[in-house]
Amino acid sequence: MANPQSPIRNPQSTTLPSSDEKAAVVRAMFDRIAPRYDTLNRLFSLRLDQYWRRLTVRTVAISAQDIVVDLACGTGDLSELAVQAGAQVVGVDFAANMLAGARRRGIGAAFVQADAGCLPLPTGWATVVISGFAVRNFVSILAVLTEAARVLKPGGRLALLEVDTPSNWLLRWGHSLYFNRLVPLLGALLSDAWAYTYLPRSVLYLPTSVELQQMLEAAGFQDVVKRRLSGGIAQLVTAVKKGETAKREKGETEKKENGL
Ligand SMILES: C[S@@+](CC[C@H](N)C(=O)[O-])C[C@H]1O[C@@H](n2cnc3c(N)ncnc32)[C@H](O)[C@@H]1O
Repeated sequence: MANPQSPIRNPQSTTLPSSDEKAAVVRAMFDRIAPRYDTLNRLFSLRLDQYWRRLTVRTVAISAQDIVVDLACGTGDLSELAVQAGAQVVGVDFAANMLAGARRRGIGAAFVQADAGCLPLPTGWATVVISGFAVRNFVSILAVLTEAARVLKPGGRLALLEVDTPSNWLLRWGHSLYFNRLVPLLGALLSDAWAYTYLPRSVLYLPTSVELQQMLEAAGFQDVVKRRLSGGIAQLVTAVKKGETAKREKGETEKKENGL
């Protein structure tokens, strides 16, 4: 039966929302699935999701010296790990029910309802921006990256954790069977049919590595590195905001490498 709160006329339709309707559709969808979001994430990823989040926090070396913005924070999984690493954390998301889940954790992070493309945060304020499994949900990835660059100090670190498609054909076949067939089936039984059909299909919104690198550079980042995780079923893309500090740090690294 059609969910009366779904802005999609036919929830069985596998058509991805157009740019015009995407933000409203995505927000409404996350508001619907928020109560079971964490449980299904752990189940469908066999808890790899938390391993990848811990890796994200470690890779950008979050510490007590950091001010971290968790973009599209959802129920606060990444925010919690950043708080545990000692950082001051602000999580931002536009779905009220996801944020309610984050606030219920009582982890000592601030959670703010806002669009990732228009952050209510000062320019040059944060030292790290992290984002988990959100890139494919943004209407304009470039606008969000530009906003991330704005709130970061020069030399600030960015980490984008996302799903990916394995390059090995056998792994790709098995993963596709699991991700595109089993996940929607189980998602329909346990939560929301449309959402768990959309989530695997939304991979189609992801830019290629080259396109993402170009967007990151256009937004004001450098030193873009992509790591393929767990056989390529997930990816972690890191970058550094261009600027004086980044240049100085790069110079110091080069000096060390040259033995100066
Ligand atoms: C797949 S969930 C990921 C949540 C969390 N980062 C995690 O690691 O589990 C994607 C989140 O992105 C949020 N989102 C999508 N587009 C957004 C936007 N433009 N502004 C703010 N939040 C957005 C959704 O509300 C949802 O909570």
